[in-house]
Amino acid sequence: MSGLADPITLAGSEVTIPALGVGTWAWGDRSTWGMGGYDAALDEGTITEAFEASVDGGATFFDTAEVYGSGRSEQIIGQILAADPERAAKVQIATKFMPMPWKLDVRRSLMASLRASLDRLGLPAVDLYQIHGPVSLRGQGALADALADAHAAGLVRAVGVSNYSVRETRSMAAKLAERGLSLATNQIEFSLLRRIPETGGLIAACAELGVVPLAYSPIGQGRLTGKYSTTNKPQGRRNFSDHPMEVVEDVVAVLRRVGEAQGGKTPSQVALNWLMAKGAVPIPGAKNRAQAVENAGALGWSLTAEQVAELDRAALVKVGGLAGLKTRMWQHG
Ligand SMILES: NC(=O)c1ccc[n+]([C@@H]2O[C@H](COP(=O)([O-])OP(=O)(O)OC[C@H]3O[C@@H](n4cnc5c(N)ncnc54)[C@H](OP(=O)(O)O)[C@@H]3O)[C@@H](O)[C@H]2O)c1
Repeated sequence: MSGLADPITLAGSEVTIPALGVGTWAWGDRSTWGMGGYDAALDEGTITEAFEASVDGGATFFDTAEVYGSGRSEQIIGQILAADPERAAKVQIATKFMPMPWKLDVRRSLMASLRASLDRLGLPAVDLYQIHGPVSLRGQGALADALADAHAAGLVRAVGVSNYSVRETRSMAAKLAERGLSLATNQIEFSLLRRIPETGGLIAACAELGVVPLAYSPIGQGRLTGKYSTTNKPQGRRNFSDHPMEVVEDVVAVLRRVGEAQGGKTPSQVALNWLMAKGAVPIPGAKNRAQAVENAGALGWSLTAEQVAELDRAALVKVGGLAGLKTRMWQHG
């Protein structure tokens, strides 16, 4: 069973990305990740090793945002790229604009944010520029105008959105088309702990529109790796996929079983491969070399149709109580 072909061309551009990317929210972020905040084990040395192992393993697509660590994630990526021109030549970089409601002059705000991001990244242009979420008080037309300005200025090669519903995705694709642009991506929370994008029709709509779904929190913020349990819960403010660990453990047990049948793949690798089979590009966060190597090991093989179906049955679609509410709500990330 195979999902997206590798490499994947982003609509309206000549940018190609692999079937697996890397999320960099934790790089330089002091508020969300780790024990009570910043992860003390995460320094620029371990981040650089994660970058190297990702690129060497074929995961050359990096996702960041102006809000990650208030620009620190972009800055760290910029430093790494400047110090390693050989690997820098192989990567594709995506970042995001946060259209907060008070940014009413969205064309001017987006251009200012983009120039600041490029400055931190040390790049003349980014491969993909995304609207972080549907939080603007301005309509999709105004956001499409702002993205078109950035594209016309040669500062972005492809444009995307994040946390958009089916209706919002269709609307933005139409507004961009009026300006001669294609919507390349929609970045959404999608994993075995959140299957709603598939069951609710978003993945099908993306396929119809030629929009690549980028799956964020694809291993449930670490929960699907199998290293956390009822007695060893994840630390920090990991609000995505925040289900009771008893529920997560049942899903991990199926991941382990399928991984063993696949010749010793780990739960994370199986969870990521399942997303690829669904036509999504997962962007797991990696904090160090070992995590990056393991995640890149999701590339180059495919689950069988029976294994995908077994995982579908184990995946969470509806979750009750507070965890269900939290996982349905969009939160900044
Ligand atoms: N657009 C949005 O609104 C939005 C929202 C959320 C995320 N994102 C993007 O999606 C990316 C990924 O999502 P995420 O970081 O929330 O969650 P995730 O990728 O599901 O989980 C990442 C965390 O899991 C642990 N981990 C990763 N690989 C591992 C491995 N092989 N073995 C053991 N532990 C491993 C690490 O934390 P520990 O080692 O501390 O457990 C890592 O920080 C983000 O970096 C960001 O780029 C976007």
